[in-house]
Amino acid sequence: MIARVVDTLPESWRWTLESRRNGENKSSYSRECVGFCVTQTPAAELNTRREVFLHPVEVERWKSAGVPRRQDEFLRGRYAAKLALGAWKPEVPAKAWHVAAGVFGQPVVRDGNDGNGNAGNPLVSITHSGAWAAALAVDEGHPMAVDLECDDPAHAEILRREISTEEWSALARAGVPAERCPTVSWAIREALAKVLRTGLMAPRSFYEIAEVESIPGEPGVRGSYRHFAQYGVQAYWLREFALAVALPQKPALALGNCFTTINLR
Ligand SMILES: CC(C)(COP(=O)(O)OP(=O)(O)OC[C@H]1O[C@@H](n2cnc3c(N)ncnc32)[C@H](O)[C@@H]1OP(=O)(O)O)[C@@H](O)C(=O)NCCC(=O)NCCS
Repeated sequence: MIARVVDTLPESWRWTLESRRNGENKSSYSRECVGFCVTQTPAAELNTRREVFLHPVEVERWKSAGVPRRQDEFLRGRYAAKLALGAWKPEVPAKAWHVAAGVFGQPVVRDGNDGNGNAGNPLVSITHSGAWAAALAVDEGHPMAVDLECDDPAHAEILRREISTEEWSALARAGVPAERCPTVSWAIREALAKVLRTGLMAPRSFYEIAEVESIPGEPGVRGSYRHFAQYGVQAYWLREFALAVALPQKPALALGNCFTTINLR
């Protein structure tokens, strides 16, 4: 795993994943570059420079986004997406990317620059909660998704009821503090719901966590999903939020180093 903070953008970074299928030789290694961003840049500040990073179609979408809270959320989410895309493919200017919405509300990246495909086939995942937003960008051949949930005592009890006893015990055994379990488990589910692009439309057992283990020295766990063996998850409790990334099981990813580098812990 190679990670580096992008010099001028302390909220974003990129890392490279190396993976190898079981039993295959070294030449079957694949390398994936992932752009990632976590930000709490105030919406008022982003508003003053929205024309710098929003594509013209996104500016129109922002204008018609509805209540100010949704506008702010949209702005911060798109900002995070542009920083993630910038870390993934630095040569494309932020406002050249058009992050549209698909039929299920999922982000769909269009290259608003020249449309000739030079920018690759990025897949973007966006999340926002409270004053925070996060996003990742990766090649669509290697699907990943991110979810961020701010701790909110008013919602903790509702989230708690969603966790099965088995899941709660598994998270606790892996070292997740009891008060962080509700948001950590919720972020883990939503990350899967996003990578599947279905949203949380199925019974809760569908998204259940199977095995969980601590990530040594980090406020995080890695685990697997009971019904989707091809996906794994890494989840962290940082500041006032939980953050989960769902990704194909094989690559060995260690996001925590990045969080230390940008002082999110
Ligand atoms: C879709 C869902 C996973 C979003 O999670 P959330 O915690 O509510 O919100 P987050 O801030 O973490 O994520 C919102 C972002 O997820 C992305 N998103 C929305 N729908 C998505 C989907 N089906 N798949 C992947 N990503 C999706 C969008 O980028 C959105 O941000 P944007 O609208 O500013 O672009 C969640 O609301 C859900 O499960 N809803 C169930 C209903 C549903 O799926 N409706 C769509 C059916 S047509």
